[in-house]
Amino acid sequence: MADIYDIHNHLLPGVDDGPKEFSESIRICKIAESQNTKSVIVTPHRKDVTENLSVNIIKDLVSDINQTLREDNVDITIKIGMENHIDLGLLRDLEEGRALTLNNGQYILVEMPWQGRPSYIEEIIADLLGYGLTPVLAHPERMTVFEEDPNLLFDFVQMGCISQLTASSLYGKFGNTAMNSSIDIMRHGLAHVIASDTHMAEGQRCYDMELGFSHAKRIVGIDIAKKMCSVNPLAILENHKLT
Ligand SMILES: [Fe+2]
Repeated sequence: MADIYDIHNHLLPGVDDGPKEFSESIRICKIAESQNTKSVIVTPHRKDVTENLSVNIIKDLVSDINQTLREDNVDITIKIGMENHIDLGLLRDLEEGRALTLNNGQYILVEMPWQGRPSYIEEIIADLLGYGLTPVLAHPERMTVFEEDPNLLFDFVQMGCISQLTASSLYGKFGNTAMNSSIDIMRHGLAHVIASDTHMAEGQRCYDMELGFSHAKRIVGIDIAKKMCSVNPLAILENHKLT
């Protein structure tokens, strides 16, 4: 199995709808390590961080987790990021340090609105690109904006965005619509990365990159599966261009 790098994960404790306890965060890291994962970027929801906590608190949590992992000889490194809901305050929050990119690089994980299609979404994506950032679109296979307008994802990729599927979607954990949509997106060459979007150690939103990788292999072959689970997420983590 290829080395895995996960760029979308809610394993930080007590920050958003991820685990409540530090011990569960560590359990998630151990599960990720057992699935050949070398590094994880944690991506708490920006809204939860700005409303309830602060960026400094999540930075401290990341270093506490890394320290515990070293002490327990768990061979995995945690990096900082954020899942940024797309709204009119995003650029201001970026400038003021309340919105974070992935591992402090040029890639930024953005999430479309779950409902509706605000007129500003193209404008904010264009602003981020104009700012020199590369938006990474979180799980387009699960978002109605892309379901209702199938050309939108193509247009965003043409503009310079990249797209991230969630591993569980590939094998139907979010239902048939998301599964079929994830397969379509991959077959049209519009998927760049697969990530876990983990929220818990066990259950519906657990860490399943090994399963995601094996389903991607079955659907699009081993080379593209490796690109989406290993090569591209590593490039994002290291702030390199995707090849
Ligand atoms: Fe997420």
